[in-house]
Amino acid sequence: MPERGVARILIPEQEIRMIVETLGLEITRHYRKTGGELLVVGLLKGSFIFMADLVRAVEYPLTIDFLAVSSYGEATVSSGKVAVKMDIGGSIEGKNLLLVEDIVDTGHTFQKVIRLLEARNPLSLKTCTLLSKPSRREVDVRIDFCGRDIPDEFVCGYGLDYAQKYRNLPYIGILGTTGA
Ligand code: IMP
Ligand code: MG
Repeated sequence: MPERGVARILIPEQEIRMIVETLGLEITRHYRKTGGELLVVGLLKGSFIFMADLVRAVEYPLTIDFLAVSSYGEATVSSGKVAVKMDIGGSIEGKNLLLVEDIVDTGHTFQKVIRLLEARNPLSLKTCTLLSKPSRREVDVRIDFCGRDIPDEFVCGYGLDYAQKYRNLPYIGILGTTGA
């Protein structure tokens, strides 16, 4: 039975595990080929559970960090700026950076964060998201490692929230009309 407010389960725990395993293999294969220092940066808060599972599925030496940015309303979306609420610890210059997000929807957030980090001259920058809603895309954002495309539905669980709730659900669920 899904949690109260969740209409149905879209991706059960076991399927999430398979998605993460596959991503881990792809990422491992990529960095074994390129070599170099790897820094995995998770976007807070949504990516925290995915990050924890993903880094354990990667068999390549790495360090981790987190970045928190604030989402703006529509008015500021076109400015191309993003407010950093919590920055990563050190310099990323000369490092291979893998940016990890929970879900890419319109793409605005991810695009702005990519630009912000690229300006700091990493050796390379790759992107990974657990979920993507391609039908909602407004900007063309590059995703190198994508867990799964999903339809235009609001999902929660496994780190993703609705009004800060539901992050602790072990599966990805679709919110019902009573989800509020
Ligand atoms: P974007 O800038 O439109 O791509 O939005 C990205 C952010 O919106 C993500 O980092 C999520 O925090 C949030 N978001 C978008 N869709 C969903 C969803 O279905 N469930 C939970 N959060 C979402
Ligand atoms: Mg997010």
